[in-house]
Amino acid sequence: MSLITLKDVSKVYGEERTLIKALDHIDLKIEKGKIITIMGPSGSGKSTLLNILGAMDTPSSGEVLVNEIDIGKLPERKLANYRKEQIGFVFQSFYLIPNLDVLGNVLLPKVPYGIKDKDRKRAQELLDIVGLGDREDSKVGKLSGGESQRVAIARALINDPNVILADEPTGNLDSETGKSIIDLLIKLAEEGKTIVIVTHDPRIAQVVSEHPRGNNIWIKDGQLSDEPTYDMYCWDSNA
Ligand SMILES: Nc1ncnc2c1ncn2[C@@H]1O[C@H](COP(=O)(O)OP(=O)(O)OP(=O)(O)O)[C@@H](O)[C@H]1O
Ligand SMILES: [Mg+2]
Repeated sequence: MSLITLKDVSKVYGEERTLIKALDHIDLKIEKGKIITIMGPSGSGKSTLLNILGAMDTPSSGEVLVNEIDIGKLPERKLANYRKEQIGFVFQSFYLIPNLDVLGNVLLPKVPYGIKDKDRKRAQELLDIVGLGDREDSKVGKLSGGESQRVAIARALINDPNVILADEPTGNLDSETGKSIIDLLIKLAEEGKTIVIVTHDPRIAQVVSEHPRGNNIWIKDGQLSDEPTYDMYCWDSNA
């Protein structure tokens, strides 16, 4: 049984002459424990697709099923719970709160529930995992891009989500740090989490494609394909 299923999902912006088909009749099944990369040119619909998978956005038409339940039919309260409890989102821009320290940013998703000692301990463990164990008191405004991205990843993991959706999680990292982030995401997939990564980095796609749970998908003009087209490779190598 697939964990998330998209059935004939489209997302359009504007109307008539200004119409943009960000997603054009997408069918996709994502099974639990898989690690998937989504690659494609800028503007091809990657972030839109990720936002719809995480119920951060709704399709213009089509269905999004999670464990066979059509989440488009859920009341907002249940949908908010789904987002909070099931999804960890790593954004293309980090959305850290500049005047909170590193630990405070990781703990942010816990604020609505009241922060407990075990949350603090877990946040510290996660910061160790992403290599920022000694920076918990730093203000995030002072961090480099790579460090900020790692804080955002630790924050995405704090609620122990089943699904991690990452939009360019290594886009701002040097290749060594990027590799450690991918190793971390693969480890999480091996523990049973489901990981979807939007990336421009062919090396990440390669690592994922060589993994038994890995799968690469490509998107162009809002449509999916299992194989890259030539111009996608061209675009990626110039990125
Ligand atoms: N809120 C919006 N209003 C109008 N058009 C939008 C909106 N969001 C996205 N689009 C358009 O939808 C298309 C897909 O955008 P999307 O952000 O999903 O692309 P992407 O593949 O993530 O690109 P990038 O690699 O640059 O992040 C683009 O043409 C974009 O301009
Ligand atoms: Mg994007």
